[in-house]
Amino acid sequence: MKLVGKSVLITGASSGVGEELARQLAKKQCKLALLARSKDKLQALQKELQAKGAQVEVYAVDVCEREALEQAIYSAHKKLDGLDVVFANAGVGILKPAHKLKPHQIERMIEVNYVGAINTLLIALPLLLEKGQGQLVGISSIASLRGLPGGAIYSSTKAGLNAFLETLRVEYRRKNIEVTTVCPGFIRTPMTADIEDSIPFMLDVDKAVTIIIQGVEFGKAVVGVPGWLYNLTNLMRFLPSELYTGIASLFSK
Ligand SMILES: NC(=O)c1ccc[n+]([C@@H]2O[C@H](COP(=O)([O-])OP(=O)(O)OC[C@H]3O[C@@H](n4cnc5c(N)ncnc54)[C@H](OP(=O)(O)O)[C@@H]3O)[C@@H](O)[C@H]2O)c1
Repeated sequence: MKLVGKSVLITGASSGVGEELARQLAKKQCKLALLARSKDKLQALQKELQAKGAQVEVYAVDVCEREALEQAIYSAHKKLDGLDVVFANAGVGILKPAHKLKPHQIERMIEVNYVGAINTLLIALPLLLEKGQGQLVGISSIASLRGLPGGAIYSSTKAGLNAFLETLRVEYRRKNIEVTTVCPGFIRTPMTADIEDSIPFMLDVDKAVTIIIQGVEFGKAVVGVPGWLYNLTNLMRFLPSELYTGIASLFSK
């Protein structure tokens, strides 16, 4: 689906990938609904984009609070004359050896990355079905493809999201609903600010978001960001577990 002029909802729009998606989509004359918890940041972004002529609605909402999320999505659908595309982008990434993760960190990642993303997409889905078309986009991660040292919970929330998105893609293909899974490698955003120095192949957020938008417009099932890194990592899925464990454990602290 070409995104020019479309009505687009983005969760996690107060920072990083979501904020950049909003900026680039505003340049495509999209009507935007931006969701996150940080009201001040959303309002500042709204002001910036409105000054450039964009229609922007903002909702300070936690994706883990289903009722508030539902109200926000319904309101956005009404104000933007029907949603066309929904990005479930809000996420939390805490990469640490499993035994060092605190219970509240584990719960937060599962709640935001998995349950929050599922809630976002399943609340929007009936609205798109009613409209007769639409596109659902889940921001997953290359870390979902195999167990990543430090990513016991993060990787598994994203792997679960992949399975959910693939099932939706199959179930709704013949109902004109496209479903896209986005798998980025590391992107320079506040999420990676602490580990930036130790990571090779880190992408600037503007480049990453341009790749995401191109893939979404192309209606791809899976968008690798960048594509070559996704393909290379995906190949590792064919390595026998013993061999993969031996190699990956070399990177474990
Ligand atoms: N950066 C990377 O290297 C990378 C790589 C692969 C995948 N990803 C994925 O890309 C997505 C965006 O990450 P990012 O790098 O842009 O991170 P970020 O800069 O930390 O932004 C995360 C966004 O999620 C929102 N959020 C967090 N918890 C929320 C909640 N409970 N309810 C609503 N919004 C919530 C945050 O807003 P508030 O705090 O205002 O709520 C913020 O807008 C995530 O799904 C992440 O897993 C990132």
